[in-house]
Amino acid sequence: MHLKNLLSLLQKRFLATSATLSTTSATSQPNPSSSSFTVHFLVNSCGLPLEVALSASKTIQLDRNNAQKPQSLLSFLKSYKFNDTQIAKLISKRPSTLQSRIHNNLEPKFQFLIENGFGGELLPKLILSNTEILSRSLGSHIKPTYKLLKKFLKTEESVVVSVKRASWLLTMDAEAKLVPIMELFVREGVPDERVTHLLLSQPRTFVQNVDRMAVCIKTVKEFGFQPGYSMFTEAVRVKSSMSDSTWNKKVQVFKDLGWSEQDIAYAFVRSPRFLACSEEKIRTTMDFYVNTMKLELKKIVSFPKLFNYSIETRVRPRYRVLKVLVSKGLIKHDIKPVWVFQQTETRFLDNFVLKYVGDVPNLLEIYNAAETKAI
Ligand SMILES: *[C@@H]1O[C@H](CO)[C@@H](O)[C@H](O)[C@H]1NC(C)=O
Ligand SMILES: *[C@@H]1O[C@H](CO)[C@@H](O)[C@H](O)[C@H]1NC(C)=O
Repeated sequence: MHLKNLLSLLQKRFLATSATLSTTSATSQPNPSSSSFTVHFLVNSCGLPLEVALSASKTIQLDRNNAQKPQSLLSFLKSYKFNDTQIAKLISKRPSTLQSRIHNNLEPKFQFLIENGFGGELLPKLILSNTEILSRSLGSHIKPTYKLLKKFLKTEESVVVSVKRASWLLTMDAEAKLVPIMELFVREGVPDERVTHLLLSQPRTFVQNVDRMAVCIKTVKEFGFQPGYSMFTEAVRVKSSMSDSTWNKKVQVFKDLGWSEQDIAYAFVRSPRFLACSEEKIRTTMDFYVNTMKLELKKIVSFPKLFNYSIETRVRPRYRVLKVLVSKGLIKHDIKPVWVFQQTETRFLDNFVLKYVGDVPNLLEIYNAAETKAI
């Protein structure tokens, strides 16, 4: 009783302050007794911080004479492995959950998700990552969308993997977005497994407008890509991931740095991803290879993968080590840096650091040196 009085006092203060901020709150001001019960329930039973509870109480009204209802909803969530943190998060994000119907709404939905691979702790995680699932109809949205995903991704396991990564897939308008793009790829002759792989690894590609996607495909083909070629979907993904003006700006940055259109096309066909770099990354990367390493432009163009490596964490430290080894005559000066940058961390350490610590005792420190100490 004591706490409840305190809460309603705090709430009155809150309403009084917000009334001065918003002229409409005077008319929409909820019934004080049921709203203090709502705040009380949100704080004490759902674990919401008072501030959050106060603002949530403006969107829902719990009936103090029917406290059984929200209470059984909480028990229901607990029985589906929602822990206290998750319940508080869910109710903060979507207070109206407390008013959901269990038997003809949540329960069949949860059962469907569990039967299709989202059992145990996956279920609360899925719901929290996309609470919109709770408001979509099972029969007319969730089920048909799941069916489409399953059709394109082939196995339940793949659907789970991709929905875990991109839970919006379950609530997107798949019929209007996903299907037309899928069909477009298939019509263009992209092998089934490439399309599946793209959906699995880069689902964002499928929220594009289909007409724009068709234009991207046309552009990519003009670069000489064949739809059967394994890199085709990657090229389309990169092309469609940015607006035309961003694309043109990047092309211009390369041109300003001495690349010809043919150079850009040549590199794009070899490693489409290099055009996904930001303008900033293009400049800093080129700066390092050209001005610090003195690599010929021709070399950079023929190894666009060079843009896939982080200069600060991979390239520069390795280059420091190579310079020392070359200066001491321990390795040949014409060693191919591209080949060295490509190696995994472990292989690089074995082949170029640990192998030579006998000759250069501080080699590991040189490799790990902070940027300011760069040589
Ligand atoms: C609830 O589960 C989440 C996700 O597994 C976890 O991060 C969190 O610490 C858990 N909270 C409690 C109170 O167990
Ligand atoms: C680029 O790097 C990413 C991770 O950093 C890797 O997954 C990808 O395979 C690399 N791509 C190329 C073309 O090397």
